[in-house]
Amino acid sequence: MKLFALCISLICISSSSTFANFYFNLFSPDKQLQLNFQLTREGVPFYTLNMDNKTIIKKGLLGIKLKDGISFDEGFQLKQIDTALIFDSWKPVWGEERLIVNHYRSMMVTLTQSTASDREFKIEFRLFNDGLGFRYIFPGQEVLYHFIISDELTTFPLSDDHKCFWIPGDYDSNEYMYSTSKLSEIHALAEKPGTGIGFKSPINDSCVQTPFTLKSKDGFYLAIHEAALINYPAMSLEVNRNQFVLKSHLTPDCYGNKAYLRGGSKSPWRVILLARKAGELITNRIILNLNEPSTIKNTDYIKPGKFIGIWWEMHIGKSSWDYSGKMGLEIPYNQLQASGKHGANGIHVKQYIDFASKEHIPYLLIEGWNTGWEDWYGSWKEQVFDFTKPYPDFDIENISNYAKSKNVKLIMHHETSSAVTDYERQMDQAFRFIKKYEYAGIKSGYVGRIIPRGEHHDGQWMVNHYLRVAEKCAENNLMLDAHESVRPTGLQRTYPNWMACEAARGNEFNAWSVGSPPEHETILPFTRILGGPMDYTPGIFQIKMNYYDSTKTNQLHSTLCKQLALYVTLYSPLQMAADLIENYQQKPDAFQFIKDVPTDWDSTIVLDAEPGDYIYVARKEKNKNDWYIGAITDELSRDFIMNFDFLDADKNYEATIYRDGDTADWQKNPMQYTIEKKKIRKKDKLKIHLAAGGGCAISVKESGK
Ligand code: NOJ
Ligand code: CA
Repeated sequence: MKLFALCISLICISSSSTFANFYFNLFSPDKQLQLNFQLTREGVPFYTLNMDNKTIIKKGLLGIKLKDGISFDEGFQLKQIDTALIFDSWKPVWGEERLIVNHYRSMMVTLTQSTASDREFKIEFRLFNDGLGFRYIFPGQEVLYHFIISDELTTFPLSDDHKCFWIPGDYDSNEYMYSTSKLSEIHALAEKPGTGIGFKSPINDSCVQTPFTLKSKDGFYLAIHEAALINYPAMSLEVNRNQFVLKSHLTPDCYGNKAYLRGGSKSPWRVILLARKAGELITNRIILNLNEPSTIKNTDYIKPGKFIGIWWEMHIGKSSWDYSGKMGLEIPYNQLQASGKHGANGIHVKQYIDFASKEHIPYLLIEGWNTGWEDWYGSWKEQVFDFTKPYPDFDIENISNYAKSKNVKLIMHHETSSAVTDYERQMDQAFRFIKKYEYAGIKSGYVGRIIPRGEHHDGQWMVNHYLRVAEKCAENNLMLDAHESVRPTGLQRTYPNWMACEAARGNEFNAWSVGSPPEHETILPFTRILGGPMDYTPGIFQIKMNYYDSTKTNQLHSTLCKQLALYVTLYSPLQMAADLIENYQQKPDAFQFIKDVPTDWDSTIVLDAEPGDYIYVARKEKNKNDWYIGAITDELSRDFIMNFDFLDADKNYEATIYRDGDTADWQKNPMQYTIEKKKIRKKDKLKIHLAAGGGCAISVKESGK
């Protein structure tokens, strides 16, 4: 609902030769944030942003450079400013909250360049109580038809040398460990790339990725990201270490061009999230609010839930994706012999279907079902995978019927090995095939270098590709979980069938690399997950890899209870129970939490949190009176007093507490846990102990007495 709209016509405020210095102030609905838009005498647009009378953004440049000498960067005159106050709310199909409030003051600034046939350019601002979004609009006009963006000039000049949480800027990968440093100490190439299976293209020593999160000395938090990344490349931030200025850095194609647009286009929103307490970043909904409402009318098939998978066993080397262990292109596929190690074989798949059915886990992911895995790796190869050709021991008709009889829905894996042109050529057929066998959705994958050669995972061409896949899924009533894609920007509002992305360093790194330190999961919700859900794949019970292979020394940097708590602290509508089913069968009491914990919520409360240190979250199950609490810590053990203020005063509850054992420790004793039951009422308090690298998960269910 629009409450108030103001339109100021400022046509001809000055002659074209002497531009006026123009200011306009806009306040957030609660008046605590102040945005100032300025046009200099040279007609250059700038903005500043304050919160609680403190400077957040000093004087940020606005503008876009086009190829062939044309630019939207100076010589502007102000034509018009329109402002409005908006207050409304909407209900997401799934999420962390049942209802999302959208409350902001908007300002549309229309500029013209009289030296360029009065070419128009607009900048739209939305100022919320907890942050700012702005974007560039290129109106359709005769003097602007097809054009190429060569650079985006947007800057974010910060007020001080803030502490920040960052990963290196990279055109192809987000699979990095986080660093924590002052802005002036960022050296983005310090971490050696290459510890993952994804292809990496680090940009330079001073580029970092968004969401980029900072904390000031006086205790405010900000995160810079983008919203609604459509038909545009992803933005990284170039850090000026001396002046604390960040500048937009767009992912190029192989010609160095950034985006190919036409009149009538818009840039994604540039977003600054602000918080006085760290936890408020996690419950900030600006990124969702800046995205368009859902385009999907029938959402019946979009059902959040948990899945198990023929998956972790490949990552720990127990079975393989490939059928034969031999290069498939050397030996024709129909002559390949089974190696005996193939994970996705019918007998094994049926064991997983039986388990899912018995334990009421709705979905099963099966990787390694189709031909191509013999030579998928090492990439930049075409025609590797066939998305309609199962391996000989995967009788898809029989398996699909069996799954149906057991009420388990299958998730099909589409690893493209980044031969994306080849995938697009097969897509129509592949989607008909999925529909025929009534799968619930697909997990896509983009390991390797992108084909078309010269494109990047985060460039405009690929951004459009991921969206084409999401749309194609929607046309076919399928859910989507994309791995190695560009990081999310809130598009799950517009495409609620696009449930999750990986687009970060997931739990799999703990299976086959040095892994990620215990603080990793305390940073992700303040950075990557601000843009949208992550398929992190929690729930690993067998923490040490030498259990499978005595020569291995690597392990998860986590206790078993922390793996449980992640279902609450890392939100996703699709959550994997990632471990082998035999590990769950051995610990049915701990597995009970995974069975119980929902993936769709009425409300979310961050009880306390600090990026890099700890996160304590409580969430209320959708349409129920039950609550779930997740508490995780970094490498330090911690104690805290949990209170239950959020419960109803007139109700009784029973809490089941899954806590680290008394001598648990992520390194020395990671699998020790204790489960206790307690009657709980609103006024009660509970002392919680988290082991080093540990966690605690609690279900709080309404009980009669
Ligand atoms: C990387 C993905 O993140 C992982 O989940 C998948 O199993 C492998 N690629 C193989 O596609
Ligand atoms: Ca990955």
